[in-house]
Amino acid sequence: MIESSSAVVYRTSMGLCSFRTMATVTAIMLLLLGFGSEMGSCKVVQFIFGDSLSDVGNNKFLPRSLAQASLPWYGIDFGDGLPNGRFTNGRTVADLIGDKMGLPRPPAFLNPDLDENMILENGLNYASGGGGILNETGQWFIQKFSLYKQIELFQGTQEMISKKIGTEAANKFFAEAHYVVALGSNDFINNYLQPVYADSWKYTSTGFINYLMSTLEGQLKLLYKLGARRLVFFGLGPMGCIPLQRVLSSSGECQENTNQLAISFNKASDKLLNSLSKSLPNASFRFGDAYDVVKDVIYNPQKHGFNNSDTPCCSFGENIRPALTCIPASVLCQDRSKYVFWDEYHPSDKANEIIANEIISKVSFLRPNATDVPAEAPAPSPALDQTIKQ
Ligand SMILES: *[C@@H]1O[C@H](CO)[C@@H](O)[C@H](O)[C@H]1NC(C)=O
Ligand SMILES: *[C@@H]1O[C@H](CO)[C@@H](O)[C@H](O)[C@H]1NC(C)=O
Ligand SMILES: *[C@@H]1O[C@H](CO)[C@@H](O)[C@H](O)[C@H]1NC(C)=O
Ligand SMILES: *[C@@H]1O[C@H](CO)[C@@H](O)[C@H](O)[C@H]1NC(C)=O
Repeated sequence: MIESSSAVVYRTSMGLCSFRTMATVTAIMLLLLGFGSEMGSCKVVQFIFGDSLSDVGNNKFLPRSLAQASLPWYGIDFGDGLPNGRFTNGRTVADLIGDKMGLPRPPAFLNPDLDENMILENGLNYASGGGGILNETGQWFIQKFSLYKQIELFQGTQEMISKKIGTEAANKFFAEAHYVVALGSNDFINNYLQPVYADSWKYTSTGFINYLMSTLEGQLKLLYKLGARRLVFFGLGPMGCIPLQRVLSSSGECQENTNQLAISFNKASDKLLNSLSKSLPNASFRFGDAYDVVKDVIYNPQKHGFNNSDTPCCSFGENIRPALTCIPASVLCQDRSKYVFWDEYHPSDKANEIIANEIISKVSFLRPNATDVPAEAPAPSPALDQTIKQ
């Protein structure tokens, strides 16, 4: 009656990640013998939910999406320098934080080479340019994953992994993982602040932020229910100072009303994350933002090693700004490390580095342990390299 047990072993760069798939009788015997704690020990990986600030290639595989970073000069300072789906010249904030913690960089959910082993090794990134907390945000990009959709896709991933390694091992894997949720600016820039969207006339700013918070609360509780225990939510930067917002005024100043929305959003989400962390057992849900530092960088660029904080490095000529994105015919600035903004919306690699360091310093459990973090950022895995080359 005793059925055979088989061991499935995945080789990883860090060692072995092993799971036993076995008949119940054998499992119970092993438990009685004290092997229970050995079942399914795997790598700690990240699951990332977000918008264009964290997208690593999902929109590249959404053929009708108008939010794209698939043409030069996106990615010029990353890997082989070809566009890889990131909406910047180099690394995203989530890349940089993960690197500092010694965690692998998760591939895009829509990567055609994706399989269970790749997820067990690297985690997964569902972030999609144009996406928001609200389903209705960013409709004019036609195709994108909003946060609810991203969580739905994550549920699919969980089923896939459970089938592969068993429910118990999968539960452990998902409970030990790190979760990043980073959305909100599109809910303002590509929804509330646009008169064509119903939300802009339906809500006052306070009402709209309350609506965002109640939606986000439901989404974070859903992630908790699905097993997330360690989660960081990134707050917004001074989004009234992105080049796209500056061109709205003849003087080119930051839009202070827009910045005020970001400040209120950050306050409310800080409160939400703290309250969830207290009320949900075992949850460490943290809020981290870099608003003040980025504001200082924008007003005092020289102090932080920058030379320009109000126009994009990649730009299609002064007269026709804002060109929606940086395009192959665009002209690049001379020194990309001296520009705070890469395009009309998105910070440069160098600015992302400052943002990542600030978030790490604010979110205590992210602080890297000096003894087990490599000094240099790990190179992208071969699997990820392939994604980048496509
Ligand atoms: C949002 O979209 C998801 C599908 O991605 C759907 O299941 C959900 O019901 C929608 N929620 C609202 C409030 O429209
Ligand atoms: C909290 O953690 C303890 C110890 O690891 C565990 O026994 C318990 O089931 C956890 N509870 C929840 C709700 O995650
Ligand atoms: C800063 O930019 C100005 C033009 O905007 C240029 O003249 C100057 O040389 C730049 N300085 C550095 C250190 O790059
Ligand atoms: C780093 O981690 C090791 C073991 O995981 C621990 O012994 C050490 O105290 C930690 N160092 C710091 C600075 O937290």
